[in-house]
Formats: sequence, C-alpha cells, structure tokens
Amino acid sequence: MGIRIRGTGSYLPEKILSNFDLEAMVDTSDEWIRTRTGIAERHLAAPEQATSDLAYAAAERALAMAGIDGAELDAIVVATITPDHVFPSTGCILQRRLGAAGAFCFDLEAACSGLLYSLEVAYSLMKVSSAKYRNVLVVGAEKLSSIVNWEDRSTCVLFGDGAGAVVLSNDGTDSPDFLVCSDLHADGNYSDILIMPAGGSRCPASEESIRNHAHSIHMEGRDVYKLAVTGMVGACRTVLKNAKVAASEVRCFIPHQANSRIIDAIAQRLDVPGDRVYCNIDRCGNTSAASIGICLDEIVRGGQVSEGDYILLTAFGGGLTWGAMLIRR
Ligand code: COA
Repeated sequence: MGIRIRGTGSYLPEKILSNFDLEAMVDTSDEWIRTRTGIAERHLAAPEQATSDLAYAAAERALAMAGIDGAELDAIVVATITPDHVFPSTGCILQRRLGAAGAFCFDLEAACSGLLYSLEVAYSLMKVSSAKYRNVLVVGAEKLSSIVNWEDRSTCVLFGDGAGAVVLSNDGTDSPDFLVCSDLHADGNYSDILIMPAGGSRCPASEESIRNHAHSIHMEGRDVYKLAVTGMVGACRTVLKNAKVAASEVRCFIPHQANSRIIDAIAQRLDVPGDRVYCNIDRCGNTSAASIGICLDEIVRGGQVSEGDYILLTAFGGGLTWGAMLIRR
C-alpha cells in the first residue's frame, strides 16, 4: 500500500528562557536543573501565540516538504494537552488556517504519548480506508507555558513550547509502510500522579481553583520517573522483538524528551549505542506531545537518517499513557 512519511516540520517559538532566567524567578540553579534533567533552556511562545499558531507553523513546513497543500489533506489529527480552547478542537482551527476544507479534524489527548497515539490512529485510518485517506496530517503541539505554575520550582523548570508535524501519504505503490510495529498502553490507575486538576468538568474554574494553582501541571516526579523507565523499556523491547529487529539495527532512537537521566537509563537497558540516541532536551525541555515530532523533523532535516532506516520512538506521559513505535524513513 505504501503509507509513507512524506514530510516533516517543526516550530520552536523565538523566545528562549534559560536556566539562569529561572534562577531569578524561583529558588533553583542552573547546576540543579542541568544535572537532574539535562535541560539548559526552553522556548516559550509569545503571549499572543496559541497552540494552533505553533501547530500551523510546523504543519506548513511539513506540507512544503511533502509538496502538497492543505486542500489535499483528508484528515488532521492534533495531539495536545494545551488546546486553544476546550472546544472547538485545535484541529478545526488548524484546518481553517491551512485551507484544508476536505479534511476531517480532531484533537487527541494522550499527553506526552500523543504523537505516537496519533500516528497509530492516522495509520489505522489510512490502512482501513486507503481511497478515503490518502494524505493525513499529524501534529503534536503544545503551549505548556500556559499551564505551568511559575512559582513551583519542581515543575516550572521542566517544560517548554513547540510543535512537530508529520504528513503521511499513501503513495499507491507496494513499498513498505512507514510503521513497522507499535506497542501502546494506558493505565488510568495512575491518573492522579501527573494531572492538571482544574478546568474540566470535575473542577470547573473558580476563585478557589485559581488561588490553589489547580489550573497547572501537578506531578509526583519520582513515581513518574520510575514508571517512565519501566514502561518505555518494556514497550521498546516488545516492538523490537515483534519486528525481529535488533537494537543495533536501529539507526536513530528518539525517546520522549522529559529528562536526560531517563533517556540514558532507557538507552542503556536497551543497548542502543549512545551515538544513535537523539536528544534536544538541552535546548527544548519537555514539550509533551510535540517532543517526538520536533526530534523527528530535526533528524530528517539534519540528514541523520536515510530512506529505509529504522527509527525507534518511545514516549510516556499523563494518563498514564506510554508506548513505542518502530518506523522506517
Ligand atoms: N531546583 C532546586 N531544587 C529543586 C528543584 C529545582 N527546580 N525542584 C525540586 N528541588 C528539590 C526538592 O525540593 C528536593 O529537596 P529536598 O530533598 O530538600 O526535599 C530535592 O530537590 C529533590 O527533589 P526530587 O523531586 O526528589 O528530585 P528528583 O531527583 O526526583 O528530580 C525531577 C525531580 C522532576 C527532575 C524527576 O523526578 C523527574 O524527571 N521525574 C520525571 C518527570 C517526567 O518525566 N515528567 C514528564 C513525564 S511525561
């Protein structure tokens, strides 16, 4: 059938917030942030930029690489936990900007695993109905700075804004599909350890919810850390085993960029050589659903992968959700 990655794109807002800038905002240090997380700086969207604006910039670049315009899209999936509004979906807002009148559009919420979940859904649509879905745009986009408590040093140092986009196209040939194997999971038993408590139907906005900073990210860092390592290692092992591909055959390993210590621990357990592990956490921090899409675009544009190369993706996030995906360029 030939469902291929035809284009990738990413966007990082201009403004950079360094660890030194954060030292002036909360009781932290560049040294603490670097050694505990690997982050040196992160990009922050301008006040007038919403998630759809970041998504649009990344999508335009992916469409340009694919050589198609918005009107040729059959579906748009936007993975985000920071939609422009609760409704309408950011997908619909993006559709209008792209002039993608023929596309059906929706948002997918799987936190940091959002891009992997979205690729799985998009691929399944294209596989089931190849005539109907020839070109599908998948975007991971986040303005996490809008849901960070800037007085909480345990979380505000971790996150950044950005967007990554992928155009999937069915080229109508019998070339192999981009998706080789995937293994996705969720466990709602841990929904409380990584959560934005207010703003939904459980706890609508009120003076009290604002006073309590309940409209921002709350995280049990240590618990998340342990579960992240176990979950991502397990999913990667399953994917490699089912695909009968050795870790040494993976050209590029893109783990979700949450913490460089987590990344190192996974790579070590999987025996992926250090020079095959892609990291931009030092420049971007954790951009949730955008993280893997930004990395993917950077390795494609940087010429780090050639056609047919295996790329291993893995992610972990609130829900809990996690998984791994072996794809080929
Ligand atoms: N600057 C300075 N000190 C800080 C700090 C900061 N920004 N944030 C926390 N601390 C302090 C804590 O208050 C604590 O002090 P104490 O020992 O006096 O109580 C100490 O540092 C250790 O805190 P702890 O939370 O145990 O640190 P840690 O080594 O677990 O690192 C994280 C914290 C958040 C970096 C780490 O737990 C992590 O990365 N977790 C997973 C995060 C993640 O992946 N999230 C997204 C999933 S998608």
